[in-house]
Amino acid sequence: MKWERKDILGIRELSPDEINFILDTADSFVEISTRDIKKVPTLRGKTIINFFIEASTRTRTSFEIAGKRLSADTINITASSSSLVKGETLIDTARNLEAMNPDIVVIRHSAAGAPHMIAKLIRQSIINAGDGAHEHPTQALLDMMTIRLRKGSFAGLKIAIVGDIAHSRVARSNIFGMTKMGADVHVAGPATMLPPFLNRFGVTVHTDMGEAIRDADVVMMLRIQMERESLNIFPSLREYSTYYCLNQDRIGLAKPDVLVMHPGPLNRGVEIAPDVADGVNSVILQQVTYGVALRMALLYLLTGGTL
Ligand code: CP
Repeated sequence: MKWERKDILGIRELSPDEINFILDTADSFVEISTRDIKKVPTLRGKTIINFFIEASTRTRTSFEIAGKRLSADTINITASSSSLVKGETLIDTARNLEAMNPDIVVIRHSAAGAPHMIAKLIRQSIINAGDGAHEHPTQALLDMMTIRLRKGSFAGLKIAIVGDIAHSRVARSNIFGMTKMGADVHVAGPATMLPPFLNRFGVTVHTDMGEAIRDADVVMMLRIQMERESLNIFPSLREYSTYYCLNQDRIGLAKPDVLVMHPGPLNRGVEIAPDVADGVNSVILQQVTYGVALRMALLYLLTGGTL
């Protein structure tokens, strides 16, 4: 298979074959990060701009590390370090980046659809590193990579996604991806954090977290997206955690070999108890490790690489 798409904008438009192709490619990049010399010449001479107009630790750092491990030149731009603060529009900024002839622009923006708009405007490949509450495709791909490496496949897996589903781009991308790959996806949260018509996306919806995680193979916890909340949609953090925190009692409802996942950043004691986040079932830091290989694979495929 040869990668045909110019951009990676969302999981919704990817086919299961395309997802498997990305994950197969990512698997082949894992080993590079375990070497003493973590660098290969694959993308020598290529330029990657990481254009992050919203805060990030994991995504921005792992894209930069991924580019550097492949010997690309990587440049980071943040909102505060760009001329956006002087009133330049996003479109003008994108056209100026295009004029410098990079190969790939990785964009995170608080507005849903911003990477899609820029992808239509400029000739370079765009990777969506998270757009508002819309999609976070590279997070979902690294989540699926982690699950596939640990469980072998998605067929027959019960996967529970718990928390602020309505405002989570991670939830949206994972729902699109995991249902496509054949998993039995359950979502849970307070009614105010569950968007209407969710069951049209092929998931089972619960307000009782226990029902969602009972006999689950994977439990993915999400933080409350405080930065995207326009209303007070729960009474208090204490009450939220009483009903929706993954603690030792609740984890006992899932299968003994359940994978505990979280895209980060964690709010310890709110959606996940510290001893569960750091416990034997947790693969939270493994997700971060695989995120580098996954992003190496995307940079490789978008610059014409083949498996
Ligand atoms: N998971 C994730 O997107 O983390 P960052 O916001 O730190 O990039």
